[in-house]
Amino acid sequence: MSKQIPKIILNDGLEVPAIGFGTYGLNGNAGVQAIQSAIDVGYRLLDTAYNYENEGTVGKAVQRSTVPREELRITSKLPGRYHEYDQAVPTIQESLYRANLDYYDLYLIHWPNPIQDNYVEAWQSLIQAQKWGLVRSIGVCNFLPEHIERLEKETGVKPSINQIELHPFFNQADQRKWHAENNIQTESWSPIARANKIFDNETIQKIAAQHDKTPSQVIIRWHHQLGSIPIPKSASKERQIENISIFDFTLDEAEMNAINTLTRPDGRQKDQDPAVYEEF
Ligand SMILES: NC(=O)c1ccc[n+]([C@@H]2O[C@H](COP(=O)([O-])OP(=O)(O)OC[C@H]3O[C@@H](n4cnc5c(N)ncnc54)[C@H](OP(=O)(O)O)[C@@H]3O)[C@@H](O)[C@H]2O)c1
Repeated sequence: MSKQIPKIILNDGLEVPAIGFGTYGLNGNAGVQAIQSAIDVGYRLLDTAYNYENEGTVGKAVQRSTVPREELRITSKLPGRYHEYDQAVPTIQESLYRANLDYYDLYLIHWPNPIQDNYVEAWQSLIQAQKWGLVRSIGVCNFLPEHIERLEKETGVKPSINQIELHPFFNQADQRKWHAENNIQTESWSPIARANKIFDNETIQKIAAQHDKTPSQVIIRWHHQLGSIPIPKSASKERQIENISIFDFTLDEAEMNAINTLTRPDGRQKDQDPAVYEEF
């Protein structure tokens, strides 16, 4: 399957697969087995975070896998409590030690925390870590355009990726448009809205039936056609295969538009508006 996954080239030249694997909640031995299974069925982009307390789990699955390290793209994230430069640099190093890796392919600031207001310093740490070779590509999560504009203005360096909450109930049209205009790759977290009341949506079900696909596949395909990288999480091999099997059909314009209409201003899973929400 990994050969069939299209590649996307980021603004700094790093090539990444068009779909990734989320690992939130996959911990310990069961987590290692689930992540190993994801690599086996073809996922090459893995998403973890310092705060998921499973960088070690991801690292163990990578070590056990026969897939060469250079074929994988492993992402981790800097938590809000370590945005200060003197704390961020050792945190990135700790992330590597935990995973037993020499480098991350992507390292992202997890949340901007604009009230704490230290994200520019965090960004300077990521820039430095990239210069040292600890991380290949640097990006952000949950950043609003104003936060990214400030990073660029104060450091001259633009993120490669912004990983944001994105699913049919919250489709982030304006933010995606802004990313496209500024050559920043959108990545979708909770791409299937945590399987929460989305698969029984009538519009999604109808489109799925027309293509003889599952609702999850239709939604993940919709992300792909929007130009975003979805990172669905599943502990089950069967569902991992289901979610990655989206490259053999196409949604037409009417179907894309029908899914686009499902968005709601209050469609976020947990009301985590990055303008005010902070996570440490
Ligand atoms: N940057 C951020 O702030 C941020 C925030 C949240 C998440 N993330 C990242 O994004 C990843 C994905 O988001 P998420 O884990 O919140 O949610 P998600 O991927 O939208 O949904 C995961 C849920 O859907 C279920 N599921 C998966 N495939 C399914 C299928 N085909 N049919 C039915 N149910 C299915 C999973 O259960 P099973 O495991 O039992 O299959 C799990 O309960 C995370 O794991 C994490 O890596 C980042």
